[in-house]
Amino acid sequence: MPDVNNEDVAELKIGEKTVKLPIIRGSEAEVGIDIRTLRKETGCITYDPGFVNTGCCKSDITFIDGEEGILRYRGYDINDLADKCQFIDVAYLLVHGKLPNKKKHQAFSSHLNNHSMIHEDMRHFFDNYPDHAHPMATLSAMAVSLSSFYPELESSRKENVDFKVTRLLSKMRTAAAFSYNKSIGHPIVQPRHDLTYCENFLNMMFWTPVNDYKPDPVCAKALNKLLILHADHEQNCSASVVKMVGSSGANLYASISAGICALWGPLHGGANQHVIEMLERIIKKDKGDVKKVIERAKDKNNSFRLMGVGHRVYKSYDPRAKVAKQMCKDVLDQMGLKDPLVDLAQELEEAVMADDYFQSRSLYPNIDFYTGLTYRAMGIPTDMFTVMFAIGRIPGWIAQWLEMHEDPHGRIGRPRQIYTGPTQREIG
Ligand code: SDX
Repeated sequence: MPDVNNEDVAELKIGEKTVKLPIIRGSEAEVGIDIRTLRKETGCITYDPGFVNTGCCKSDITFIDGEEGILRYRGYDINDLADKCQFIDVAYLLVHGKLPNKKKHQAFSSHLNNHSMIHEDMRHFFDNYPDHAHPMATLSAMAVSLSSFYPELESSRKENVDFKVTRLLSKMRTAAAFSYNKSIGHPIVQPRHDLTYCENFLNMMFWTPVNDYKPDPVCAKALNKLLILHADHEQNCSASVVKMVGSSGANLYASISAGICALWGPLHGGANQHVIEMLERIIKKDKGDVKKVIERAKDKNNSFRLMGVGHRVYKSYDPRAKVAKQMCKDVLDQMGLKDPLVDLAQELEEAVMADDYFQSRSLYPNIDFYTGLTYRAMGIPTDMFTVMFAIGRIPGWIAQWLEMHEDPHGRIGRPRQIYTGPTQREIG
């Protein structure tokens, strides 16, 4: 952490003027300079494209130490949560700040079951949606449409939280499975009361009237872990979008719908799909020549980036990627499968870890590098990977959105700029 001793004030000298700015500290010794009075006192704003150095809030939800590769939800380490918890309990933890006891777990689970169906009128959306529509487009459309079907939950107030959370968590999972059924021309498969959250997800995707599909416990366990790994990640791009939209007073469903669109981008959650497409291209076009690919990724005249590598916050191996890498191997072993893309991914990782270009920039595999390969081993199609990421991230988005609405310093998000365009001129 920064060496700022025990200073409580930072001094900023501009010309003859020196302003004192309060220093704030988090529970994990993170240090921030409070610049809320900067413009009033100096007439200056800060300049920080991409908000690399800018904190937008204080938060009790998720802590990341990017240098040490630590991730904790409400103080619990991600490895413990992935090993010992059910995803729905982690969702409860993120929103409520504590893990549910048995009674709360049962109530939450029964809410999820009771809200797992989609309004019949909403189901007909799928009848007219193009088969080739990307499921992230469908998911975003379904999310915002929930506000038309369930307007009573639009309030940002703390009550109804479990209804909001379980309605979104449950119905978005059903909508995701429906969009998959639709994309392959299969009949919609309804949720079942006798299956767990993850078993239901798999069953709705893969059961058909002509096969006696039963969710494989190996896949259900892997999906549970994957959803936990994705559940929150503090102020990432899509969480910031959810909060920005919510800060204007827009309802939770509209905010989540915007977050789904932000996550879709290849630099963010869309990377898990692009990792697979990159690996397939390396085999088809580069004949598996990893050296050539590494050189291309380093070439500043080439816009190619290694998908699934690098991170704004982790300057060490993403702890989630470690879990996903092991899980990918376990699922393949337990299912007796082999995947040449996994071998290629490992070869690519070794090349990244051995190359000074990547090491000097602290570029390591991130969560997206192995998660797509695990979904692939489970038989989930590539264009559904980012949907899986989104379903996992819903509780984190909701927790961040609720916390923002409870923040006494919360205001509508509205960054400033430095104008560099034409000065005043007349129409000639
Ligand atoms: C997620 O924020 C979160 O928490 C996100 C997330 C979450 O859980 O919500 O963790 C999920 O989005 C993970 C990231 C998934 N995206 C990718 O895998 C796409 C590939 N990665 C890069 O595009 C990039 O690393 C980002 C977008 C992830 C981070 O971009 P930054 O922080 O803006 O870093 P940068 O682009 O300024 O890169 C710094 C340097 C540059 O070189 P120099 O200018 O110093 O010479 O590193 C280079 C970049 O060219 N670099 C890469 C690279 N990533 C960065 N070079 C080659 N391949 C890469 N992947």
